[in-house]
Amino acid sequence: MSMTAVRSITDAARKREIAREILETLTDWFENVEAREDYIQKSGEQVFFAAEKDGKTTGFLCLKETGKSTVELAVMGVLNGIHGQGTGKALVRAAKEYAAAAGYAFMQVKTVQSGYYEDYDRTNWFYRSVGFQELEVIPSLWGEENPCQIYVQSLKKDASLPDLIMSRRSYRGKYKPDRVPRQDLTTILEAGLAAPSGCNKQTTSLIAVDDEALLAAIRKEIDPPVAQTAPAMICVLTRRINAYRDRCFATQDYAAAIENMLLTIAALGYQSCWYEGHITDADRIGDRIAKLIGVPDEYELVCILPVGIAEETPPMPKKLPFGERAWLNGFGKREG
Ligand SMILES: Cc1cc2nc3c(=O)[nH]c(=O)nc-3n(C[C@H](O)[C@H](O)[C@H](O)COP(=O)(O)O)c2cc1C
Repeated sequence: MSMTAVRSITDAARKREIAREILETLTDWFENVEAREDYIQKSGEQVFFAAEKDGKTTGFLCLKETGKSTVELAVMGVLNGIHGQGTGKALVRAAKEYAAAAGYAFMQVKTVQSGYYEDYDRTNWFYRSVGFQELEVIPSLWGEENPCQIYVQSLKKDASLPDLIMSRRSYRGKYKPDRVPRQDLTTILEAGLAAPSGCNKQTTSLIAVDDEALLAAIRKEIDPPVAQTAPAMICVLTRRINAYRDRCFATQDYAAAIENMLLTIAALGYQSCWYEGHITDADRIGDRIAKLIGVPDEYELVCILPVGIAEETPPMPKKLPFGERAWLNGFGKREG
C-alpha cells in the first residue's frame, strides 16, 4: 500500500488551487460559499501543507500565527472517502513539527462544539485524537447555533509526557459509540510491543477487537459487567517463557506493555482501564474470552483494555502522599 507524503507548498497560487480543489468537495463542512472563498483566499498567505498519495493531492492544512507563542490550525480538509485513514493525522503531525521547530509553544484550533452536528462531532473527535484539549467554548463568536469550541495543545514535547503520565486515570464509565480508527488501534498495539521485555523474550502478544459481534460475545462473558460500551478492546496475552534458567519475566513484560498502551491510549484522546483482577479471578472470564478469539492453549489472556472516547470525566483516585512512598538518598529521607 502506498504511503501518504506531506509537502510544504510555498507558491500562493498553487496553495489556493489546492485549497479550492479540496474544499469544494467538502460541502458538509464548507457549505457557505462566501466563507469557503475566504478560506481559499487566505490560504495563499498562510503556511501550507499538502498531502499526496499516488500522485494525487488528498488533503491540505494551513497555519497562521495568532500570538507570539501560538499558531492556529486555520483550516484543513481531507477528501471524502479517505477520512479516518491517516491523511489528517499526517498533515497535523507535519504542522506540529514545523510549528515546534519555528519556536511556537501552542497550537490552537476552532470548530463547532460537539453535540450540534454529526459532521462536526467527527471533527471534534479528530482534533482530540491528534492531541488537542478543550480550552474554551465561545458561544457568541459564530452565532448561537454554532458555539465555537477552542482547542489547544502544547508543542513542547518534553513537557507533555510527564503531564500525560500524571493525568492518566483508570476510566470505568460509559464510552461514546464513536469507532476507534484501525490506525489508532495499530498505534496502541505498536506501543505495547515496543515495551522492554526480560532478555528480550517478547512474551507478550496482543489482539485488538473492534468487530461488533465479537465485542458483544465478549461483553456477555464479563460478569459483573465492565467495559460494556467500549467500541474497541485490547486483549493482552502472555506466554510463560523463561528468560534464563528458571527466571520468567512474563508478568513484568506484559505489565510494561500495558502501561505503554495505557499512556498511548490517553495520548490519542481515549480512555481505558487495566482490567486484570476482574478477568483472572476464580471464574476465569479471561479463559472464556480467549476461546472466543481463538487464542491457542500456550497463551494466557491476562488483561483487557477497553478503548474509546469517554462520556464522563474519570475520577481522581486517592494516592498516598509523595513523601510516604518516595525518598531521596535513603529510606524515609526527605532531604539529600
Ligand atoms: C495488575 C492490575 C490489575 C488491575 N485490575 C483491575 C480490575 O480488574 N478492575 C478494575 O476496575 N481496575 C483494575 N486495575 C486498575 C486499578 O484499580 C487502578 O490502576 C488503581 O485504582 C489506581 O487508579 P489509576 O489507574 O486511575 O491511577 C488494575 C490495575 C493493575 C495494575
